[in-house]
Amino acid sequence: LMILIAKETIEQQANRLLEKSIIHYQQKAVGAVAAADSEREALNYDQCFIRDFIPAALVFLIQGKTDIVYNFLIETVGLQKKKRRVDCYQPPIGLMPASFKVESLEDEQYLHADFGDKAIGRVTPIDSCLWWIILLRAYTKATGDLELAQSDNFQEALAFILEICLGPQFEMTPTLLVPDGACMIDRPMGLSGHPLEIQSLFYLALRAGREMLVRNTEGEILVDKINNRLGSLVYHLQNYYWLDLTKLNQIHRYQSEQFGESVVNKFNIYPESIPYWLTEWMPDQGGYLAGNLGPGKMDFRFFSLGNLVAIMGSLTTERQSSDILNLIEHRWSDLVSKMPIKLCYPAISGLEWRIITGCDPKNTPWSYHNGGSWPVLLWMMMAACQKMGREDLADRAMAIAELRLAQDDWPEYYDGKNGRLIGKSSRKFQTWTIAGWLLAKLLRENPRYLDLVCFEADTEAIACTI
Ligand code: GLC
Repeated sequence: LMILIAKETIEQQANRLLEKSIIHYQQKAVGAVAAADSEREALNYDQCFIRDFIPAALVFLIQGKTDIVYNFLIETVGLQKKKRRVDCYQPPIGLMPASFKVESLEDEQYLHADFGDKAIGRVTPIDSCLWWIILLRAYTKATGDLELAQSDNFQEALAFILEICLGPQFEMTPTLLVPDGACMIDRPMGLSGHPLEIQSLFYLALRAGREMLVRNTEGEILVDKINNRLGSLVYHLQNYYWLDLTKLNQIHRYQSEQFGESVVNKFNIYPESIPYWLTEWMPDQGGYLAGNLGPGKMDFRFFSLGNLVAIMGSLTTERQSSDILNLIEHRWSDLVSKMPIKLCYPAISGLEWRIITGCDPKNTPWSYHNGGSWPVLLWMMMAACQKMGREDLADRAMAIAELRLAQDDWPEYYDGKNGRLIGKSSRKFQTWTIAGWLLAKLLRENPRYLDLVCFEADTEAIACTI
């Protein structure tokens, strides 16, 4: 008797693995592990990271498995810091953990949260609370359940996050000032100050938060603050972070040390700080948002996540959004090559690597965060491309990823200038690689779900007129 066993498709495999990654707490599905690689030490990869869970949560929402997302939101709201800290080593009110884990004590299960205080680099996970708001909006849109977001508990959680983000800081710009490693890049990579990834997520979170705030007296106060901030944030990013050949020419000829109110070179950027690679790399058509901007300093590196999320949220103008995708197309062999897509470009090396990373052996040139390729970014690339009608680019990227991801057991990241090698310390069966690929595929098949993660240009914010 011959039994024919149909070979599992990549999609079936991805769904099976995603299902297997789910974490249960008190008999309820509440999240997913970061990776299920039995060959490497788990460290904290057996935890559910908020940022890692986002693509998985979006897949579940699209597939109608909304309970797990509901449970995740309920449990994480319970983990948010709500009490004044006893000492400065504790997280401030409003912060969401980087990750959590189910633990047991005398047969009682409890959730143990890590606010970066136990994570390897001891970094503050500022992106968690921003992603959390973005997910809450997606959940609300997917299910039509307004009650959850409008409940007192969730309104309080939203207010805490907004207060910590919109509260006073030692700052004279609308961007959020954060320490190094406060986001997906959670090790020293020279991101302290105003890194693009945080600014793009901040923008989306403010817009999502505004949609969900109940417009009572307190809600209205927050909405006013949001509208003020959004107007200047968008102005700041579109004008001062934007880089293209025209802008590069301007910076190249900037006068520095200008004084007074009507200066052109507002941040006193010295033309000498333009890295040589960029003068050749910047395409004639195309541009991107710089990695960071502060007094006297611009980080000229290209960071994919911040640029793609900016497109999704309409933080960039239509023209700029198309130009970012044009740049990816023109610099395909640098940014995509054998695996979509570089987390940042180019890598830092030599003395710069020693000083900036503190000699981090995981972040050596063209590895991990330092110019490694991260397939999780595929879903953001798909969303950004679909929003701008550039499905052709996303399809090309998907075709490259599809050939290798399942064969390589869904690695966390790839190494090398062109992403040909599986990352040196990369975990396999990395959940957000699996979910990111699935999500990209689902979005491609059902463009209506783009709505869950994208925003049209804002019409409510108070325009900035400086
Ligand atoms: C690494 C990544 C981080 C991710 C974590 C779990 O630390 O840098 O972004 O959340 O692994 O996958």
